[in-house]
Amino acid sequence: MDTKILVAYASKHGMTEEIANKIGETLRQSGFQVDVLPVKRVIKPETFKAVVLGSAFYIAMWRKDMVKFLEKNEKLLSERPVWLFSSGPMGEGDPAELSQGWRFPEAQRSMIERIKPRDVTIFHGAINIKKMSFLEKWVLKNVKAPTGDFRDWDAINKWAGSVAAALKR
Ligand SMILES: Cc1cc2nc3c(=O)[nH]c(=O)nc-3n(C[C@H](O)[C@H](O)[C@H](O)COP(=O)(O)O)c2cc1C
Repeated sequence: MDTKILVAYASKHGMTEEIANKIGETLRQSGFQVDVLPVKRVIKPETFKAVVLGSAFYIAMWRKDMVKFLEKNEKLLSERPVWLFSSGPMGEGDPAELSQGWRFPEAQRSMIERIKPRDVTIFHGAINIKKMSFLEKWVLKNVKAPTGDFRDWDAINKWAGSVAAALKR
């Protein structure tokens, strides 16, 4: 029987990776066996009994490797409990409000409706300006996005706890 949980992420600068690691840690503390992996390194997704997937938002889109993974594995994901999260909004306040109600890219709406995740959420993101390319700095300047680390570890922990509770039911 499949017993492990997969937490897979798509992260460009490591901030979403750290969120995925935190979710993995909380699930392990709840007694589950968990693999936390970059989504492009997941080889046999069918061997997991439940799947948590998270991608950073870049210009209102998820990272390509996450979209590819969802497209490739849509059927098996629709047959398992799945949770989705995005990391993105910068600034204080409700992350869903900061992103004008968006929790996932519109382009993936119909696929997500077919996968029927148990929950889809959005967490604040983080930007280390020193790591940004010239183009990224230019985009950030134009959209006047605040920079810094806005990740809300309590909210991330609480959400991971709700995933664990649902899996125990
Ligand atoms: C060039 C650029 C574009 C971004 N576009 C968005 C966006 O459209 N929506 C959003 O919520 N966050 C956006 N962000 C914020 C990132 O999603 C956030 O910093 C995220 O935590 C980065 O995760 P990563 O380090 O795992 O790649 C953008 C950041 C950069 C640098």
